[in-house]
Amino acid sequence: MRHTNRAVAAFLALGLTSIGVAALAQPNAGPSTGITFRNTVTGEELNTSEGKEGGRDTPAVKEFFQTGKNLYIDDKSCLRNGESLFSTSCSGCHGHLAEGKLGPGLNDNYWTYPSNTEDTGLFATIFGGANGMMGPHNENLTPDEMLQTIAWIRHLYTGPVKDAVWLNDEQKKKYTPYKQGETFPKDAPGQCPPLE
Ligand code: HEC
Repeated sequence: MRHTNRAVAAFLALGLTSIGVAALAQPNAGPSTGITFRNTVTGEELNTSEGKEGGRDTPAVKEFFQTGKNLYIDDKSCLRNGESLFSTSCSGCHGHLAEGKLGPGLNDNYWTYPSNTEDTGLFATIFGGANGMMGPHNENLTPDEMLQTIAWIRHLYTGPVKDAVWLNDEQKKKYTPYKQGETFPKDAPGQCPPLE
């Protein structure tokens, strides 16, 4: 009898939990996400529907939220945008070439938070911030703009190619690091329309 009660209680608890989750998820149901993004420092779950509006229904963001793969890596049109987003939002603290300034360098293979080796980790750091002056950037960048910024940061990478886990084998083979003075024209072909 005791056993049955416990089973019933467990069943009820499960039922209530899923009702609770469904009820919570409904009002601000964001883009469907297969990946759970967590705050880089606290591990708290991030709600990707919070912050600057828009930039959530592009094919690249949908893919990224499902698989963690950033389709903008190595896409010249996105690198052009990413360069501009990075220089507005990040370079003041991280340096023009992400070489480090007030904040740490982002262009080598040393990370305070090893999760940043993956694009999903880098996204979580940009979205939710880290410690001190590294605040969350979800109010000034949409998820799509974050993916473009990430593509640019990865492009500035100067470390060994073998540690560049964000590149697939094909991309690793033809990887050429950023060259000073390199520019991407307004009509660079690719997935990212020029920023307004
Ligand atoms: C106001 C200054 C400031 C701005 C602006 C800023 N950062 Fe930071 N960032 C920092 C500081 C300081 C740290 C170190 C925080 C820590 O260790 O928790 C940091 C840490 C980071 C880290 C963790 C690096 C590691 O080694 O693990 C990443 C990634 C990062 N920033 C990316 C960005 C990006 C991308 C932007 C632009 C969207 C940006 N930051 C804007 C100051 C800034």
